[in-house]
Amino acid sequence: MHVDFRPAAPAAYGQQILRMDRICFPLDEPPSIEGVEWTIGWDGKTPAAYCAWKTVQQEDLQAGFHYRGGVLPEYRGHGLQRRMLRLREAEMRERGLTAAVTYTDADGAASMRNLIAEGYRPYAPTPTTTLSGLGRFGRVGFVHWRKTL
Ligand SMILES: CC(C)(COP(=O)(O)OP(=O)(O)OC[C@H]1O[C@@H](n2cnc3c(N)ncnc32)[C@H](O)[C@@H]1OP(=O)(O)O)[C@@H](O)C(=O)NCCC(=O)NCCS
Repeated sequence: MHVDFRPAAPAAYGQQILRMDRICFPLDEPPSIEGVEWTIGWDGKTPAAYCAWKTVQQEDLQAGFHYRGGVLPEYRGHGLQRRMLRLREAEMRERGLTAAVTYTDADGAASMRNLIAEGYRPYAPTPTTTLSGLGRFGRVGFVHWRKTL
């Protein structure tokens, strides 16, 4: 299976991204499309996976935040999330960022396995480094992850 990852401008691909996101995150609020770096992985003309990142300020450090990502069910089990982690890290490094961060649901076993395999480790968020929002701060249910790039 060959999946080709290409940048996806919000104006052209926003609706496509939202369609994929509803499949991968049926219970979540839709993501912000604007102000985020989106990529779609294509199997020919068929979208297979998508992801996004953005810069966040964490105390005195700017970090790249793996903001959203999913692999459509029929494409899972082929290493696509790990490829998307690596391609976003390359973009973050190009922007001069030295850390990548993200968070997962506490039962997101597949994501956690992929993050660990790519060198991410958990961190305990503070009010200035939480990614899940102050309203959710301290709630059991999320795991925060960081990697030095
Ligand atoms: C998370 C997601 C991107 C992973 O897709 P993927 O890259 O194809 O990953 P895989 O299905 O190969 O799973 C990765 C690993 O977790 C394992 N795994 C998959 N489902 C699992 C489960 N329910 N419990 C335990 N392990 C699981 C796989 O066996 C694999 O293990 P390995 O590394 O030892 O080979 C995909 O499942 C998805 O889009 N889910 C819905 C949206 C989501 O959760 N996105 C991530 C938010 S942080």
